[in-house]
Amino acid sequence: MYKHDLVYLTEDASHDAAIEHINEEAFGPGRFTRAAARIREQGPHDLSLSFICTDNGETIASVRMTPVLAGTVKGHLLGPLAVRPSHKNQGIGRELVRIAVEAARRKGSEAVILVGDPPYYGPLGFEKVAYNALSFPGPVDPGRVLVVPIAEGVHERLKGIIAWHG
Ligand SMILES: CC(C)(COP(=O)(O)OP(=O)(O)OC[C@H]1O[C@@H](n2cnc3c(N)ncnc32)[C@H](O)[C@@H]1OP(=O)(O)O)[C@@H](O)C(=O)NCCC(=O)NCCS
Repeated sequence: MYKHDLVYLTEDASHDAAIEHINEEAFGPGRFTRAAARIREQGPHDLSLSFICTDNGETIASVRMTPVLAGTVKGHLLGPLAVRPSHKNQGIGRELVRIAVEAARRKGSEAVILVGDPPYYGPLGFEKVAYNALSFPGPVDPGRVLVVPIAEGVHERLKGIIAWHG
């Protein structure tokens, strides 16, 4: 009988090819045109806050975190988050989000921001950002811009441009 042996690890460069494959499979070629992807193109993601899940040594899921300045909030943009189809609906996506948000909190991040589905991320602590408060480098559905506020006054300070911030 097949048995899962799931391990959650901090991302390193040896995972690059597997993560590329997972994201290609999940999002296809259009993934590079999305507004969040354009922010990620501005600079590197933070490996110390990015995580993978392996099953019997094979990388089957990934979440990345990119440092951003959003208005005056020094936070992190979460994404892409992807789980291989063979491993969906087993709580792996949720666990990766939980680990990434907790790691950001420990590192002193002021907020974790993403563009995603509120029904999925709401139960994980994400709240809607005020409509059109943040200006992305491309069109986004304002109802899908979400945040886990960590510092004080995050919602009030999430006004203006969101961009990569080293
Ligand atoms: C979305 C994704 C990351 C979820 O990962 P996962 O490990 O399969 O999800 P989990 O096991 O943590 O959670 C599963 C639950 O979330 C629900 N769910 C999955 N995607 C959802 C979505 N887009 N909106 C609302 N609910 C969703 C499932 O129906 C399931 O509900 P249940 O627990 O009531 O049965 C994964 O399906 C995936 O890689 N999808 C393709 C890429 C993608 O869309 N990434 C997110 C970008 S915002």
